[in-house]
Amino acid sequence: MAIDYLRLSLTDRCNLNCLYCTPREKASFLKHEDLLRHEELARAAAAFVSCGVKKIRLTGGEPLLRKNIAGLVKMLKAIPGLKELAMTTNGVLLAQSAGELRAAGLDRVNVSLNSLHPATYQRITGANALEDAWDGLMAALRAGFSEVKLNMVVMKGVNDSEVAEFARLSMDFPVSVRFIEFFQTSERSAQLRDAFLSSAETRKRIESVYGLLQEVPPGPTDGPAHVYKRPGAKGKLGFISGRSDYFCAACNRVRMDCTGRVYPCLFSPATHTLRDLLRAGVPDEALADHIKKIFLVKSDYNRDSSTAGHIEMSSLGG
Ligand code: GTP
Ligand code: 5AD
Repeated sequence: MAIDYLRLSLTDRCNLNCLYCTPREKASFLKHEDLLRHEELARAAAAFVSCGVKKIRLTGGEPLLRKNIAGLVKMLKAIPGLKELAMTTNGVLLAQSAGELRAAGLDRVNVSLNSLHPATYQRITGANALEDAWDGLMAALRAGFSEVKLNMVVMKGVNDSEVAEFARLSMDFPVSVRFIEFFQTSERSAQLRDAFLSSAETRKRIESVYGLLQEVPPGPTDGPAHVYKRPGAKGKLGFISGRSDYFCAACNRVRMDCTGRVYPCLFSPATHTLRDLLRAGVPDEALADHIKKIFLVKSDYNRDSSTAGHIEMSSLGG
């Protein structure tokens, strides 16, 4: 599979503290000088694009905590050969930045939103921020992005009673609501082991309320999601089944964290780092040669989520 998708984490900091994510003590946050600067990120991104990457997704932590994010978006958008620039955010800070990000050239936004009820939202994220996240989602819908997706990690006994309510959003808004199977990332998320609900079960629950969903033929921006639609709906419904569907063979992505470590797979260790090369000022060709070597070994590291150990989700961004 050609590697044409780079997930670029901009920070390990987050304004939420989700049950399923890696917890982080304040003292353990990365130091400012360890993070790649905008220029370094852009140079690394350009090297990935010269090696075949066509889509870059900005992640975190929470990417909107990064200073002058619109400036970074402009720099990345100017990379010749890059076809699409996207972001995954929790949406809490999106209301004030959606218009500026769109104007800077961001093409698409995915918003992580796991409950539509303030108490459950707070239980999952540790923050009383549902209203802000919702406003962020609405601002994204108004800002003119080519597509807005909503990610809901389904957790039995936590938010699974809301799956039909989430499905309903795709009828009223032009949003792709995606139901994501929970996978374990840390000791804390191990407590949610019994909270796993398969995509098949989630879909069954939605269909019991709204009737049979129509499968939509795979589109270029679907990724590993299986996409459905209800007749007459403004948006779509997607199911991402990292646990029950083994999609490594079709994996087209690599990840770089905010310190320049490159992960061939979400569930593999980092195998390479670009920060020292970037800071040593190596020529573009040397950077590209290094990246090509990473691409060559990727398939050796692809692992399905059931074999996952500890994932630094907070600095890797899913
Ligand atoms: P699109 O560009 O819209 O397809 O975005 P995306 O689905 O690639 O990105 P997003 O950040 O919205 O991630 C959605 C979900 O897919 C998250 O739960 C990710 O952790 C999960 N996911 C992304 N990549 C992988 C992967 O390689 N393996 C597994 N198992 N899950 C993944
Ligand atoms: N299981 C499933 N999805 C997860 N995400 C983060 N951690 C997990 C997990 N343990 C999702 C987030 C976000 C995306 C980048 O990854 O909700 O939408």
